[in-house]
Amino acid sequence: MRGLERSWFLLQQVLRGNEMAKDPKDFISVADWSADALWSMMDRALELRGLHRSGKRPRTLEGRTLAMYFEKPSLRTHVTFEAGINQLGGHAILLKPEQIGIGTRESPEDVARALSRWVDCLMARTYSHELVEQLARDATIPVVNGLTDLLHPCQAMADLVTIAGVMKPQDATIAYVGDGNNVANSLILLAAVLGLGVHVATPTSHPPSARILAKARKLALDSGAKIVVGVDPVVAVKDVDFVYTDTWTSMGQEDEAALRRELFRPYQVNAELLSHTANAYLLHCLPAHRGEEVTADVLDGPRSLVFDQAENRLYAQNAILERLLRD
Ligand code: CP
Ligand code: NVA
Repeated sequence: MRGLERSWFLLQQVLRGNEMAKDPKDFISVADWSADALWSMMDRALELRGLHRSGKRPRTLEGRTLAMYFEKPSLRTHVTFEAGINQLGGHAILLKPEQIGIGTRESPEDVARALSRWVDCLMARTYSHELVEQLARDATIPVVNGLTDLLHPCQAMADLVTIAGVMKPQDATIAYVGDGNNVANSLILLAAVLGLGVHVATPTSHPPSARILAKARKLALDSGAKIVVGVDPVVAVKDVDFVYTDTWTSMGQEDEAALRRELFRPYQVNAELLSHTANAYLLHCLPAHRGEEVTADVLDGPRSLVFDQAENRLYAQNAILERLLRD
């Protein structure tokens, strides 16, 4: 890293010193982090976006190595973590389950302990949330949750950066419509920590996690977040600034796809549903299924921010990595 650039980065770290001292080791859930820390990572992501778009590549993670473990498919998470750390001067190593056999060839404890001797950070996408928590407990390096069946915190941070691109997030109300899944759970926790408004509409059979909702309601007592959970999509989207949806069939649920297409049909985000909002923006973490959870005219329409969200994964995660790997 050039001298001036590195001094400026270190000065910012010192200025942010107080709140940084209380950071958790890992990025497993946004709810583990303080509002100040999340706002600060959002600010840094916006800064990194500005630098990136003007062709600048601050080499703040020079020589650092990220191991990436994927039990499930990925386009965005894989590419943005690998390209992201490369752009900051580090590099990434892809680990696949069949190569390393966590729980079959070797215990999670031994994998975490060995990786901790070689690399600076581990990003893991797993089915079981408990596995990521266990890897984090056993690793001495930071562990980042790249999506589990329960949570998708990196997505929530990119969503925050995207919202900040069009309005003051503190004033935003977001409606989440569809399956009460990992993306919904992380969005609810983000709103709860930061004091945003979130309206959720899911079928009664597929609500967000009860444990996550209880945690969110507790956090909301401090943050002032307005969390409303119900079943009616029209009620949920009324007057909101953003409507968020996600696939009706998450990774690992493929056997239920036909059933889910029927069950979630009333939750499709289409022009009629959006007519109940004040010209809300559309959010979707992608991959999307046009004609299922969202219609093509809405997904590809002028109020859609979905590719900004995808782009912002890069900057949000780089801000997270910088923060976890600070000297
Ligand atoms: N949104 C998201 O996490 O995309 P991938 O599954 O492609 O990583
Ligand atoms: N809920 C989806 C998110 C994909 C990024 C899934 O878990 O498959």
